[in-house]
Amino acid sequence: MTSPVSESPERRVRPLVVAIDGPAASGKSSTAKWVARELGFRHVDSGALYRAATAATLRAHPDSGVWTEDRVLAAAASVSLAATDTSFQARVAGREAEAELRGAEVTSRVSIVAKMPRVRAWVNDRVREAAEGHAIVVDGRDMGTAVFPQARVKIFLVADPWERARRRLLQRLERLPTEEEIAEETDALVQRDAKDESQTQRANDAVLIDTTYLTQEEQVERIVALARRAQKGRSPDPAG
Ligand code: C5P
Repeated sequence: MTSPVSESPERRVRPLVVAIDGPAASGKSSTAKWVARELGFRHVDSGALYRAATAATLRAHPDSGVWTEDRVLAAAASVSLAATDTSFQARVAGREAEAELRGAEVTSRVSIVAKMPRVRAWVNDRVREAAEGHAIVVDGRDMGTAVFPQARVKIFLVADPWERARRRLLQRLERLPTEEEIAEETDALVQRDAKDESQTQRANDAVLIDTTYLTQEEQVERIVALARRAQKGRSPDPAG
């Protein structure tokens, strides 16, 4: 692995930010992880922070009917973003909690938390902190708009809902899904898209990549090429 882009403090160049946004199951996180590996950057999954805030709140208040912004923020105080060699990992109470973050209880409630403006501000601050000292590839819904409007590389990934559902099931079941399973998963994805609609924003200057007919390798190659071009042409301007 190559080392992250080193910046000369004299030139006051901020580390590069590659922002990848898109709807649920568009392949953002797996693509971002791979792109980060290729570039020697660290991967930040902003969705994992929303999930971690949700998991921490569930631990404190199992009934989501009582969740207020203050309660969510108090619970989120136990969430941290720990640097590993290749990523910043969202932890709850100092421990990794990947299975909990990806579980159905969290997934079905995360959009409650994601609609709270002060929780969004809290997530955005954590992600910006991660970008202070490291070149990052960050994925989410609004990274290229609300969080890093100056990012030099912005990508918006889309894919046909049926194909997104098929890929997600393939990953989850580790076998070919049936048509009925794909149809059911497509419905769930379309519902989640609707819940997330207000947060999912495509920046005007984002490069749109429709991955329906692309392999993951092809999408990674395209993004890496854009990032390398930005690295070469970069000037000492702020925020990536
Ligand atoms: O990306 P992932 O599906 O793990 O994100 C979980 C949830 O977090 C999304 O369904 C969405 O509600 C929220 N989210 C968001 N803004 C982001 C990233 C995720 O609102 N930047």
